[in-house]
Amino acid sequence: MSNGRVFSGVQPTGNLHLGNYLGAIKSWVGLQQVHETIYCIVDLHAITVPQDPTALKTATHEVAACLIASGIDAHSSILFNQSQVPQHAELAWLFNCVARLGWLNRMTQFKEKAGKNRENATVGLYAYPTLMAADILAYKATHVPVGDDQKQHLELTRDIATAFNSMFGEDFFPLPEPIIQRTAARIMSLRDGGSKMSKSDLSDFTRINLNDEDDLISLKIKKAKTDPEPLPDTLDALEHRPEARNLVGIYAALTDQSEAEVLLEFSGEGFGKFKPLLADCLINTISPIRDEMNKLLADPLELDRILNEGSIKAEAISEPIVSACKGMIGFVHSGK
Ligand code: TYM
Repeated sequence: MSNGRVFSGVQPTGNLHLGNYLGAIKSWVGLQQVHETIYCIVDLHAITVPQDPTALKTATHEVAACLIASGIDAHSSILFNQSQVPQHAELAWLFNCVARLGWLNRMTQFKEKAGKNRENATVGLYAYPTLMAADILAYKATHVPVGDDQKQHLELTRDIATAFNSMFGEDFFPLPEPIIQRTAARIMSLRDGGSKMSKSDLSDFTRINLNDEDDLISLKIKKAKTDPEPLPDTLDALEHRPEARNLVGIYAALTDQSEAEVLLEFSGEGFGKFKPLLADCLINTISPIRDEMNKLLADPLELDRILNEGSIKAEAISEPIVSACKGMIGFVHSGK
């Protein structure tokens, strides 16, 4: 990806957690050293489920502060919130007229989020993936660093780009590639190794938040579900021990090692020894982010200024791309 353009997004629905950090944000930080990087707080996606207006504003500031505290540099990257750049919603409508019901019906995230009460889900929740395709393609992004749960949405983005290109007979959109971490593609709940760590889980003890205090991090790891067996010396032996495998994966991602290397170090040891070392690694990573985030949150006007500056730069890139799409479709341009 020598001269690719990187785009990714995160929803402002509560605080960011360890899954967001290890699955996505850590790699966002590294990519900005080498590539053009555009990072978006996707508030239009957040309102696909009901949001309290005050809480949405607070969460947008918190996510902006958390991204900057994690190492996103507003000079090296473009950082903004989606609703400030009208091209996202505009291109999403154009893509609603390209994507097929059959494609959207396959989306597993809609099925999970809508649950049993599907008739009551918003149209926006159903069309969520076309807006995500618009986010990426409004910038002709070539690479998208995400966790494993977004893979299917990326495939749909490629289908939409391919369909658009063939409708208008030119390779207008690139087909974006996902960048998915090897060890931290899917961080699981601390209480259930079969479900993903998520902001929406009712129990806070299922996740580590990036603003958790050190004592709380230690307590959450102490209480994390495990089993009585010691750690084995091969990864295969963890196949039926999802909670143990998750903790090994977290340790590996935090220390930039493979899971096999972690097992080499800890094989034969019980969780009584492993858990406190894992908690120390987590505290070493999270406490500087949390402290910096709290400093940044003391000046919300500065955060607004950064997001506003980012949205101006984002619009300068996406406006000509979306205008060109409208021209290809055959819309008359009034010239105003
Ligand atoms: P969101 O806000 O749910 O999550 C942000 C990023 O964190 C990753 N992630 C995880 N990775 C590993 N383990 C976990 N437990 C975990 N939980 C979350 C997500 O995969 C994601 O990369 N639809 C997207 C936001 C979005 C977007 C985009 C992403 C909107 N437009 C365009 C990329 C490009 C979402 O809801 O992410």
